[in-house]
Amino acid sequence: MPTVTFLPSGRTAEARAGATLLGVIRGAGLPIGYACRGRGVCLACRVRVTGPLAAPDVAERALLDRIADPGPWRIACLARLAGDATVQADYW
Ligand code: FES
Repeated sequence: MPTVTFLPSGRTAEARAGATLLGVIRGAGLPIGYACRGRGVCLACRVRVTGPLAAPDVAERALLDRIADPGPWRIACLARLAGDATVQADYW
């Protein structure tokens, strides 16, 4: 099972490969915005990620193209875990 590390807290959680980051984050009991309830519309769930994830699909790519700030952004409700990863949000 992949391990996800949440920064800056350093907290970790195990999750199955293929799980959405939103599910992993919520399963770990951490706060995250998801105003559109995971329908890939609002961008509230964007997080910075390093580590293997499935490539962005067309819907996620379209949302990522709307983010002007450079960074390793992923849309947590659409991005799927593929191995050990580090996820960063300012409020953890
Ligand atoms: S919850 Fe709205 S884009 Fe992910």
